Amino acid sequence: MPGFELIGTEEQAEIQEVFASGGILFRHGFDALRGGCYKVREFEVAFAEAMRVPHALAVTSGTAALRVALAALELRPGDEVITQAFTFVATVEAIIEARAVPVCAEVDATLNMDPADLERRITPRTRAVIAVHMLGTPSRLKEVAAICRRHDLTLIEDSAWGCGGSLEDRPLGTWGRMGTYSFDFAKTMTTGEGGMVVFQSKTDYEKAAAWHDHGHENNPKVPRWEDTRSGSGFNYRMMELQGAVGLAQLRKLPGIVGAQRANQARLQAAIEGLPGLTLRESPAGSQGTADALVFFVRDNPTALRCRAALLEKGISTKILPEATTWHFAATWSHMPELVAAHGGALESAFPATSALLSRCVSLPVTVRMREGMPEEVRAVLSAVLTRA
Ligand SMILES: Cc1ncc(COP(=O)(O)O)c(C=O)c1O
Repeated sequence: MPGFELIGTEEQAEIQEVFASGGILFRHGFDALRGGCYKVREFEVAFAEAMRVPHALAVTSGTAALRVALAALELRPGDEVITQAFTFVATVEAIIEARAVPVCAEVDATLNMDPADLERRITPRTRAVIAVHMLGTPSRLKEVAAICRRHDLTLIEDSAWGCGGSLEDRPLGTWGRMGTYSFDFAKTMTTGEGGMVVFQSKTDYEKAAAWHDHGHENNPKVPRWEDTRSGSGFNYRMMELQGAVGLAQLRKLPGIVGAQRANQARLQAAIEGLPGLTLRESPAGSQGTADALVFFVRDNPTALRCRAALLEKGISTKILPEATTWHFAATWSHMPELVAAHGGALESAFPATSALLSRCVSLPVTVRMREGMPEEVRAVLSAVLTRA
């Protein structure tokens, strides 16, 4: 979890600078009135540098980031985009918004995309793959990227939960042609609402930047009404106060992730070895954001008993086992496009994912974990699991 635990004077100081410099809240223009203060622009440059990519574009949310990234691909109706069955609804919503066909693949014991199932679901209409780093654990990016190369597909990473994580020392979000991040209030770093897209290619960046701004091919040397345009777009622009908060949060990111990793390790050490408990897998060489500690138990009744016993002691779980409704594609019968793509039988379309998720428990990891928490968690789980 999250940057919101550490919001304070640094974010206030950044915002104060916006007001002290003329209070211009729009990212573009008003040059004579803003005393050189361009927070969104500065945030993009700092984020690109932190992720070691040439370009970054700030947007209004992680959902918008996905939609904007897909806009750079110029998808045609009927094109298919494959993501995974365990994700947040936003990933599939963005594909539908881009007028493409959403297809979901099973997850494996990493709870991220199963590369073998991804390959099975590729058709001649598949154009792109969106791999998600759910709850901060890296996806099997090497395998997924190799499949994308073999089939000439674009790889996009939904790194909403992956900000600050890496695989083989390469930041999550930068393995694909584009990577997207969420800065909503529950994420590792936050701007309240907000998101970012990172790009390897200048052409993708320029297309996406224009699309997220009504088609403006933004030229700071001319007034906005003289900007050129080559296509329509939408408005997903970030505003200056979010950019200001983002700058302060980005500086805290290594500290947040470091604290989470240490706390996750303490929780893990406390519960490892309990009867019938196995930990979620992570790919070799991966460094997650340690947003949560996820483990499997014997079956769904046991997972539900773990949650109930934890809650009784005032300890919450995170998404699993209670909130698959918003995070498991088999339950999304409200999305006709997804139902149709899976032959009308959504509920039974992902048996492997269903079996895995049903016996998962996810413990949120915080930056400021209270003293004694690992021992409390162990005591509660031990009582449930030794009875099971
Ligand atoms: C995997 C995933 N993708 C995208 C999003 C969307 O991010 P936002 O809430 O910023 O729109 C989320 C939000 O939780 C998410 O979990």
